[in-house]
Amino acid sequence: MAAAFITFEGIDGSGKSTQLRMLASELRLRGINVIVTREPGGTSLGARLRAALLDTEEQVDPLAELLLYAADRAQHVRQLVRPAIETGHVVLSDRYADATVAYQGAGRGFPPALIDEVIALATGGLMPDLTLLFDLPVAESLARHKRRADEGDARDRLDAEDEAFHARVRNAYLQIAAADPDRVRVIDATRSIEETHARVLELVMPLIESRGQRSEVSPKSNV
Ligand code: TMP
Repeated sequence: MAAAFITFEGIDGSGKSTQLRMLASELRLRGINVIVTREPGGTSLGARLRAALLDTEEQVDPLAELLLYAADRAQHVRQLVRPAIETGHVVLSDRYADATVAYQGAGRGFPPALIDEVIALATGGLMPDLTLLFDLPVAESLARHKRRADEGDARDRLDAEDEAFHARVRNAYLQIAAADPDRVRVIDATRSIEETHARVLELVMPLIESRGQRSEVSPKSNV
């Protein structure tokens, strides 16, 4: 039975990870088999790549960074995402290929053709059925980050980028959504957690109902 692959995207502090967890709980309550995963870090190899990629002490060259995200994705798609879809699961991934377009393409400035080629290689052409883009002004994202840092939450390497970097990333995400409105749905992430959750359900349930979920053995997620 066909499954669904749903990805969550947005600039840092957009609340996407909270929304992913809330959606996963709700789907499980409804008896749907869900796999929760993320990039980078959805596999055990990916967890090691994630630690290296987000380490504030590490000087990661931009090309090495691009290729490490691609390596994480290649492992993730082959080891976890495809097998999960093939066994009838709903896969919820906290970030996927659009993040490379936004962060390494618009953020770091790699040419779109190179980014597309690297993504095609890593994904083998697997794209999500639905992408939820949690959109938020950069100033609000930075304010949320500052609050988290004040509460003692550690900042990672990409958090340290300047406002212009995050503005390029946000604009790139909005452009991706404008170019592919059937797949990518923009959600206003300035609303309350509950309002946002309700909007997520409105967007996700028709897809899941159209697929009719049932699954057998669950592949193991690292998250
Ligand atoms: P997270 O904060 O959503 O866990 O993501 C970790 C960081 O990795 C985030 O700052 C965005 C970055 N990232 C990229 O730069 N390129 C990518 O392809 C992915 C998947 C994430």
